[in-house]
Amino acid sequence: MNIQWDAETYANDFSFVYQYGHSLLDLIEGENQSILDLGCGNGALTNALASRGHRAEGMDASGELLCAARANYPDLHFTQGDAVCFRVETPYDAVFSNAVFHWIERERQPALTACVFDALKPGGQFVFEFGGYGNNARIHRALQSAFEARNRTYIMPFYFPKIGEYTSLLEQGGFLVKSALLLDRPTKLKGRDGLRDWIRMFVKTPFAGIPQELGEEIIRSAAEELKDDLYKDGAWYADYVRLRGKAVKPPLSEGTFS
Ligand code: BEZ
Repeated sequence: MNIQWDAETYANDFSFVYQYGHSLLDLIEGENQSILDLGCGNGALTNALASRGHRAEGMDASGELLCAARANYPDLHFTQGDAVCFRVETPYDAVFSNAVFHWIERERQPALTACVFDALKPGGQFVFEFGGYGNNARIHRALQSAFEARNRTYIMPFYFPKIGEYTSLLEQGGFLVKSALLLDRPTKLKGRDGLRDWIRMFVKTPFAGIPQELGEEIIRSAAEELKDDLYKDGAWYADYVRLRGKAVKPPLSEGTFS
């Protein structure tokens, strides 16, 4: 992952990241499932899973977010681990992940899929949501123009696949894909400077090595360009697109008939 998380800002100003994740919980079938919340962040959704009666545990790569998760939910178990190279001692009934995979480069996605597959029992469920094709496209286009107007190159730092690409990846990894959906979800941002704050919080790598003043000028210019499109009735809206879906690890008894 290419970001250093600030747990407090995340919880105070960008809580929609996990608040929107609640509806994803409905995709998990069965009761009292053992579930790994992969990329659990501050633990809010791990706790929501536990509140639904599941045996939920969280894993995250960020020490800062794990500290927040452990402080918020001392009765739950959280471990540090990297989504592309983790191993579990006892496989789970389900792996759940919200708003994580877009942080992982395309080349490392097969390793991630393999880790999830290995972390599941046969028949286990994989429920996921993250940024899909076209996610924040207007914002990234505006940033790209602002960079290029200043003779800089903008490299969009996220993985936002189409349904076909991602479901093929899952199938190549041995999963049976049950459902996948690409959905627009315009998301209201907090505050008058909501868009600029969002860019500062989430789009960090393109600005590495750029003097801070120039970075701020670029952000101002992008926000100005986006005002007609993304500023409505006194609030900024980010043009989110989610790729949401469910896949299963085939049960051992399943043959290769199709
Ligand atoms: C997302 O949740 O889709 C997302 C958030 C921040 C940066 C990129 C994507």
